[in-house]
Amino acid sequence: MAEVITILVGTMTGTAELVADEVKDTLAAEGFAAEVLAMDKLTSAVFEQPGRFLICTSTYGQGDVPDNARDFFAALETARPDLAHVEYGVMALGDRTYAQTFCFGGQRFDPLLSSLGARRLGEVLLHDASAGTIPEEVAVEWARRWAGDHLRDRSEAA
Ligand SMILES: Cc1cc2nc3c(=O)[nH]c(=O)nc-3n(C[C@H](O)[C@H](O)[C@H](O)COP(=O)(O)O)c2cc1C
Repeated sequence: MAEVITILVGTMTGTAELVADEVKDTLAAEGFAAEVLAMDKLTSAVFEQPGRFLICTSTYGQGDVPDNARDFFAALETARPDLAHVEYGVMALGDRTYAQTFCFGGQRFDPLLSSLGARRLGEVLLHDASAGTIPEEVAVEWARRWAGDHLRDRSEAA
């Protein structure tokens, strides 16, 4: 049976959630089961479930993760669970107007997860809100490629 892709959402004003919902539908259309979980109240236990993960988060403050992702991020930093079994992708939302901290929300999750032993699949998606592109559209294109490059073989073999 195909594994579930769990999309973990950090958002302040809902864009990342919208992106996650569209990506979920796209992955489903490509034959991959996906679910969306808000990061609120998540603990590292979420990584105990099988399957792969997509971090989908915006950036706030001065390059911070959104409020609803703070506790989860801090819990991972503190507990430092062994995530050697985890594979993940990152969709980072930001705005290049914030030149010094562009997409830092997602960009901070990436080294944290790697330092815990998890393996990133593919390049990090960086969406620039000032570019005039629609985040869901850019993310759906990215997710199609991501699934094709990293999920297809194992799903067919399963
Ligand atoms: C107050 C505020 C601070 C922000 N700070 C950053 C930042 O430091 N770096 C960045 O790349 N984007 C920053 N952004 C842009 C948001 O991350 C971007 O608009 C994102 O698409 C919002 O997604 P959300 O609705 O899921 O929270 C900021 C936006 C606001 C309103």
